[in-house]
Amino acid sequence: MSETSTEQPAAAPAGAASTDAPVIIRTVHLKKEYDRKGVITQALRGVDMTIHSSEFIAVMGPSGSGKSTFFNMIGGLDSPSSGRVFIDEVDVAQLSAGELAFLRCRKIGYIFQSYNLIQYQTALENVTTPMAFAGVDPDEARRRGMELLDLVGLKDRWFHRPIEMSGGQQQRVAIARSLANNPMILLADEPTANLDLRTGQEVLNILQRVNEEKQVTIICATHDHRMLSICDRLIWIRDGGIERIARRDEVNIEVGAIEGEEDE
Ligand SMILES: Nc1ncnc2c1ncn2[C@@H]1O[C@H](COP(=O)(O)OP(=O)(O)O)[C@@H](O)[C@H]1O
Ligand SMILES: [Mg+2]
Repeated sequence: MSETSTEQPAAAPAGAASTDAPVIIRTVHLKKEYDRKGVITQALRGVDMTIHSSEFIAVMGPSGSGKSTFFNMIGGLDSPSSGRVFIDEVDVAQLSAGELAFLRCRKIGYIFQSYNLIQYQTALENVTTPMAFAGVDPDEARRRGMELLDLVGLKDRWFHRPIEMSGGQQQRVAIARSLANNPMILLADEPTANLDLRTGQEVLNILQRVNEEKQVTIICATHDHRMLSICDRLIWIRDGGIERIARRDEVNIEVGAIEGEEDE
């Protein structure tokens, strides 16, 4: 892969994880085709990827490259045309409807670019709703909801509704909600795309803290360069395929290459 490096000792192979933690997500030749009125789009063309527990992975790539499709597949939100997704070494396609619902509700947390909060609910209700689905006792849900809002710095916004909060505050509620049922995986699809620089930085800091303190595996699609300073590995997706995988330490020595990735 790297043709010019002379002084770098050959340690782990390029792009390999720097952890020996167990594998938590594995995709095997994952393909997704969309058929819209006879127009076929190959959104994923056979993606093989292995992600380890507690890794923080940034997924980069231009719009339309397949990032969200990749998310939907590993998050069990949509099914692949072919290929397999293993979560915790369980083949997602083999799960019953009930088991899949359990996976989505209890094991994976989701954060989207547009926050996707329930508008008529307060911040606290937005955070406790997934706990209600999981059968958590209401008093316990309320206590944990307050704790999570505190974690994301919204102690004083428990009873605000989304319309009464800034974008950054809404995204922080969405992060608290994603953690409601102590997921092992957090999927974030361009979480800072709608935020100004400073607010985006706050959101990244929270994600970093969640990763470090709670050991949650995070997979984050992003165009945000600052992700470079917090993620463990980066995956570049282009035209539905993996263009490159690199550890952060492999990228820091060639930041110029990253700058080029910004263009779309
Ligand atoms: N529901 C859909 N129906 C048809 N085409 C889709 C659908 N969702 C995504 N696509 C197409 O699949 C490709 C990958 O899209 P997406 O995964 O959303 O990319 P990204 O998140 O990187 O911007 C694009 O060409 C997009 O137009
Ligand atoms: Mg997308």
